[in-house]
Amino acid sequence: MSESLNPNQNAPLLQKLAARLGTPFWLYDDAEMRRRIADVKALTSAPGLQARYAMKASPSKRILKEMKKNGLWIDAVSANECFRAEQAGFATGSHPPEILYTADVFRGDWQKAILKDGVLPNIGSPGMVGDLAKEGYKGPLALRINVGFGHGHVNACDTGGPSSKHGIWWEDVSGTIAAAKSAGMPIVMLHAHVGSGPKQQELRDNLKRLIGVFAGLSGSFPDLQAISVGGGLPWNYRQPETLDVPALAAILADGQKELSKTAGREIRLEIEPGRYYVASSCTLVTQVTDLKKTRSNEKGTGVEFIMVDAGFTDLVRPAMYGSYHRITIPARVDRPTEPFCVAGPLCESGDVFTRGADEMLEPRALPRAERGDLMCLHDAGAYGYAMSSHYNSLGRAPQVWVEEDGSIFLMSRRETLADLTAVETDEALHV
Ligand code: LLP
Repeated sequence: MSESLNPNQNAPLLQKLAARLGTPFWLYDDAEMRRRIADVKALTSAPGLQARYAMKASPSKRILKEMKKNGLWIDAVSANECFRAEQAGFATGSHPPEILYTADVFRGDWQKAILKDGVLPNIGSPGMVGDLAKEGYKGPLALRINVGFGHGHVNACDTGGPSSKHGIWWEDVSGTIAAAKSAGMPIVMLHAHVGSGPKQQELRDNLKRLIGVFAGLSGSFPDLQAISVGGGLPWNYRQPETLDVPALAAILADGQKELSKTAGREIRLEIEPGRYYVASSCTLVTQVTDLKKTRSNEKGTGVEFIMVDAGFTDLVRPAMYGSYHRITIPARVDRPTEPFCVAGPLCESGDVFTRGADEMLEPRALPRAERGDLMCLHDAGAYGYAMSSHYNSLGRAPQVWVEEDGSIFLMSRRETLADLTAVETDEALHV
């Protein structure tokens, strides 16, 4: 978070926004996002390297436009994500393709996205060649491969290995290659995303495995233009730190050279991070509504709760994965800390932001808050708003964008009850 928008030093701005928009709200810092984009650009500055943005992390128009402005391409995972990318200005039908559509399942309106709009389908299941063929598709294809191992920040975020549903098992790709060939679909990309949070060694392992698949079946890929090692550049939520750009850039540049040498021609190497670009640029701002205590008894140890008006309908990561987000109370930074749990408004016991990896409550050292104080949940930009929901009939909170020059924009307004019920009908279905 830039100094200009460090929420801990900007209590008056937070107060003004809270007075105008109510709480909770999401606050994005353009300058911080640009710095993280610059890190990824520095990783991929050598020839033959290209970065995409895995837009599932935060798909709002303003963010997509920022990515486009910076020359990034897109990894989309649904037809609607493809359409959003198109609306934000990403090219369709381009060579190489700016929009990659990574799917394990084609659902709903996928045909239009693939067939009419010329995005590159990245199929993660053998039968999808048949799905495409049935629609008369004869365009280029990417194959998502399960390389046999995964490295997520929690098991739920591993995207490779025997228990992962993603991709086509690396030793079994030849059947899919043959099916694609007879359907007239040239394979232009091999792709594997091993999870959110791989270390340098795991990135190397992934690259080595993909090069191995390519070399082992080399005659099978006359049309190959690119290999993608997926996303997963880690963000340290406890102790913000930026990437080791020189080390990672060297791994990628060396990998691209080895790949091209193996192929005997230039092959592009791609990465497609999501989290790293956007995590640190956004703070979820919520309001303290009360403090209350439980007492210890034979069933367990009592805790003191700071109650706030944001819940896991806003930021689900702590409830879902036990994820850690730094918490600050800008108006109380001078107070000594005591152990508190922070809990939200939902009628569900899991609505607690201070959790450990084992999903147990984990009291946090925080200053004693007072009712009405604003609280910041930091590094909430990736899989924050994108995973928010309507549970308990709550509308999603507004998103606010602060430009480097200090100008402020409302990216999305607070959802109302009318937004939530707009899809409800009494239509009779005569089937
Ligand atoms: N590419 C593919 C094919 C992916 O499935 C993902 C993330 C990415 C790229 C981007 O990964 P990243 O760089 O953001 O780690 N909701 C979880 C993360 C799930 C990630 C799913 N796939 C969380 O909040 O941690």
